[in-house]
Amino acid sequence: MDLTDRKQEKPVAVAESHVPDLKVSRQGCLAEQPPEPCIIVIFGVTGDLASRKLAPAFYKLYLSGGLPSRFAIVGCARHPMDHDQFREHIKKAVGESDKARWEEFAASLFYHRLHFDSADSYAELGEMLHALDEQHSLGGNKIFYLAVPPSLYKDTARMLGEAGFSREGVGGNGWARLVVEKPFGRDLPTAVDLNVSLQQHWQERQIFRIDHYIAKETVQNVLMFRFANTIFEPLWNRMFIDRVFISAAESLGVEKRAAYYEDAGVLRDMFQNHMMQLLAVTAMEPPSRFEAEPVRDEKSKVFGCLMPFQLGSIDENLVLGQYGPGTIDGIQVPGYREEPGVNSESATPTFAMMRVFVGNWRWEGVPFYLMSGKRLERKVTEIVIHFKQVPHLLFTRVLEDRITPNVLTLGIQPDEKITLTFETKNPGATICLRSVTMDFNYAQNYGGPTLDAYEKALLDCMQGDQTLLWRQDAVEMCWSFLDPVLEWCETCAPEERCLLPYEAGSWGPETAEIWPNRRTR
Ligand code: BG6
Repeated sequence: MDLTDRKQEKPVAVAESHVPDLKVSRQGCLAEQPPEPCIIVIFGVTGDLASRKLAPAFYKLYLSGGLPSRFAIVGCARHPMDHDQFREHIKKAVGESDKARWEEFAASLFYHRLHFDSADSYAELGEMLHALDEQHSLGGNKIFYLAVPPSLYKDTARMLGEAGFSREGVGGNGWARLVVEKPFGRDLPTAVDLNVSLQQHWQERQIFRIDHYIAKETVQNVLMFRFANTIFEPLWNRMFIDRVFISAAESLGVEKRAAYYEDAGVLRDMFQNHMMQLLAVTAMEPPSRFEAEPVRDEKSKVFGCLMPFQLGSIDENLVLGQYGPGTIDGIQVPGYREEPGVNSESATPTFAMMRVFVGNWRWEGVPFYLMSGKRLERKVTEIVIHFKQVPHLLFTRVLEDRITPNVLTLGIQPDEKITLTFETKNPGATICLRSVTMDFNYAQNYGGPTLDAYEKALLDCMQGDQTLLWRQDAVEMCWSFLDPVLEWCETCAPEERCLLPYEAGSWGPETAEIWPNRRTR
């Protein structure tokens, strides 16, 4: 193809387009096939995850043309409900969004009251799915989304398997996929045990382990930024990078999830999964192709290179905290121990900062600081690359050693941006420098459709694309790394000062100040 042709390939401007949204995005990005017709069965459909995340994501996908041309969504839960009541339930969950095409969408919603431990109830579900499949020509393709408490993963997956739902291609039938979300176990032995149960009936390629962080546009973009440009990758190593700071600060508290959070704490809730994925996209080697296995191979290599945590010098490597009462956005908020459902003597950490090292040729000696916490001053997730000082300070006569090293910030949320800070000469007769920042905002010059993290994750499940999903070996490697830390936290003596209080609305425990560039701003 010559250059003239290339020019004609320009993405169609959104404003001029009359095609549905997703087609515009296809022309702007990779050509994607729409997902094949399928049934999506959501277990635990009356729960928080289904209502807050899945229902709005499915409806938005429907509006943007992201769902298959033919589909059915079947909700399962213990509550007695008929199809119409279920449709009302989902309508409420979808909230304020454009309801113009609601009736069309609602016609594809169905409900099955499921008794989770009854084989007969699964058999009835099977009959219902079979009828829907025939009626709407759905090709036998099915997704089973476990939006149930993690304690039910094993039994639900087993009951589904025993009822024959994991079989594919039987009598010309299509594919079957099982979707689970973190937490994948609560330590290495339970993660292995969960996997053994899942794999009793489901093959690895049928298991879709979602992490909504990897599905965020800005997290995916770290890979594009690194591997679709030539200018950054030569600098992306220990020769030029001094340290990396990855933070996911939240202003929200534990909300209504005390029962889960009391057991999980910040290390299981954020570090074993989201923080590890942010670390992986920052530190991984370029995969040979942007496909599921090469990408996941490279991520697993990063986890495999994590240096064992130095428990002997814990003060230099770990800070744990728990929020007390404070003020956020001018509003007084209670401390963690006063939250409903939390033990008044709880020792669960709600803040952690950890220094980790990736022991390989590229990263030897470069500290990666990972920080996440609840009830911090504000929500900000970002990856900050601090470059080294220039090798020779040639302006020392006038500037001493005041040359600020370059900083590259990959803003994940809520500011979706990339900024690069560098030194320039201030105009004038004398030599003086000033730091300036070049920034790119994600929405800049783009008016097209966007996919939120759950929409992207659901689309990937329907398309069978596991590139952005967890693979079991990576899950196990991350637990192997974290288990000793968790064990230390759970058994440490009070004099080891394992849990430091911090005021809600601050940036975490005071001693965390000693860590370089702890504050995100
Ligand atoms: C979830 C955690 O996985 O991620 C929550 O369980 C946390 O505790 C949430 O609040 C953060 O997600 P996001 O997309 O709001 O940064």
